[in-house]
Amino acid sequence: METLVALCKRRGFIFPSSEIYGGINGFFDFGPLGAELKKNIRDCWWDDMVRRRDDIVGIESTIIMHPKVWEASGHVAGFTDPLVDCKSSKQRYRADQLFFAQVVVDGKVEGYVSALESERTAEELQEAAESFKRKKAIQGRLQPVEPRDMTEARPDEIALIPSPATGEPGSLTPPRSFNMMFQTNVGAMSDASSVAYLRPETAQGMFADFRAVVDTGRVKLPFGIAQIGKSFRNEITPRNFLFRVREFEQMEMEYFIHEDADWEKCHREWIDWCKGWLLSIGLPENLLSEYNHPREKLAFYSRGTTDIMFRYPFGVQELWGIAARGNYDLKQHEKHSGVPQAIFDEATKRKIVPHVIEPAVGVDRIFLAVLCAGYAEEDAPDDKGGVERRTVLRLSPRIAPVKVAVFPLLKNKPGLVARAQELYRRLKRRYAVFYDESGAIGRRYRRQDEIGTPWCVTIDFETIEKDGTFTLRERDSMKQRRIVEAELFALLEEKVF
Ligand code: GAP
Repeated sequence: METLVALCKRRGFIFPSSEIYGGINGFFDFGPLGAELKKNIRDCWWDDMVRRRDDIVGIESTIIMHPKVWEASGHVAGFTDPLVDCKSSKQRYRADQLFFAQVVVDGKVEGYVSALESERTAEELQEAAESFKRKKAIQGRLQPVEPRDMTEARPDEIALIPSPATGEPGSLTPPRSFNMMFQTNVGAMSDASSVAYLRPETAQGMFADFRAVVDTGRVKLPFGIAQIGKSFRNEITPRNFLFRVREFEQMEMEYFIHEDADWEKCHREWIDWCKGWLLSIGLPENLLSEYNHPREKLAFYSRGTTDIMFRYPFGVQELWGIAARGNYDLKQHEKHSGVPQAIFDEATKRKIVPHVIEPAVGVDRIFLAVLCAGYAEEDAPDDKGGVERRTVLRLSPRIAPVKVAVFPLLKNKPGLVARAQELYRRLKRRYAVFYDESGAIGRRYRRQDEIGTPWCVTIDFETIEKDGTFTLRERDSMKQRRIVEAELFALLEEKVF
């Protein structure tokens, strides 16, 4: 991850937000290449999810909505994480990410150890327990630790659990609920009547606008409403670079189905669609898996939730959640707004409040996944026939920030430069293209490999003096072949969209 973070900064993919003031935790800016890559992810999703389907329409709702939306959806009362404070260090932890265990020697509890959630939580607790026993010179057999998180701690245990910040017990508070919505005030008055929230999900925009879309959009069941937009969550512990941040972008779609429809089949179809889409933007299948939420942990209205998981360098984590939510949200809005949400179903000649399948994904998590999956360091031939290390980002042409780099072989030959610039200008009307005339060709290739450009073309003397062909060099195979301009445009048309 450190190498990737360094590359992102060096090559202008991502910067810490407001870095000149020391940054702000949980917020990131996207630099020139990052903004392109992110836009490509969004555009691919929108094209495939909305434009290329007849059953889904797109909307763009506001970030600040009527506060009653969030009362109806349950976010005001329940969008909380359990928070634990360390009174000594002033650090804050999510209680379900702070683990502890008893140190039990010969059946007697000698003390407690703690560790933050990671791939190695259990091992770290075991090592901490061994170290505890050694330091206190306790004789006897240490029992294997049994990790629990702070939401499971008994009141009498809390004072005995050491803070991960100080290593000492006595400073951790009991868990309390912390609402993750950012509050603001609308209008000149700053009192309770003007309180509003930055949306913590885009989904409620689709539910709040459901009636308007039905009345104006000529949609009939089953159909979907999709949107892409910013969401905000005051995460207690933003972490793992872009994985958990406080301002992020979601791509969500609510697929409305008849209450009698086979929701399990529809749910499965959407899981498969989402997986297929991830493969289409270049994520390898072996890094993806599925996690079915246990029934007893689902919200009461939910029928099933499956997450598509991705193997990030810091562990297997949720990338895309696909939830079968019944018709809870529409019913709640009907109740709180007084506006009926039932629609007339032609097929059954009945009025019904549709049920919904909701695929919800974060653009930032996909961004991080494609970088993690695409990053490689490997040996490659250098200009002098030797071997050198190259860094390469294997990004799919669909999302790569730059599609083609155009080089004249030599920058001091006006004929080569003119032809290269002519090609560059023609490509640029349709694609993100980069023109580079400085340095040896090998160096120019390396610069493009590092930012994931799938193809480089070099204009040489054969191009201007003979048949007009130029060299096309492929990023992944590093193979080169000669092609004409029409072939290049055909290749791009086939691979980029
Ligand atoms: N409407 C349902 C919903 O918002 P969620 O599981 O809370 O469900 C959906 O969020 C997706 O949004 C997640 O699968 C993840 O990709 C992304 N996401 C959620 N919280 C995030 C955060 N703090 N930072 C980055 N992405 C986040």
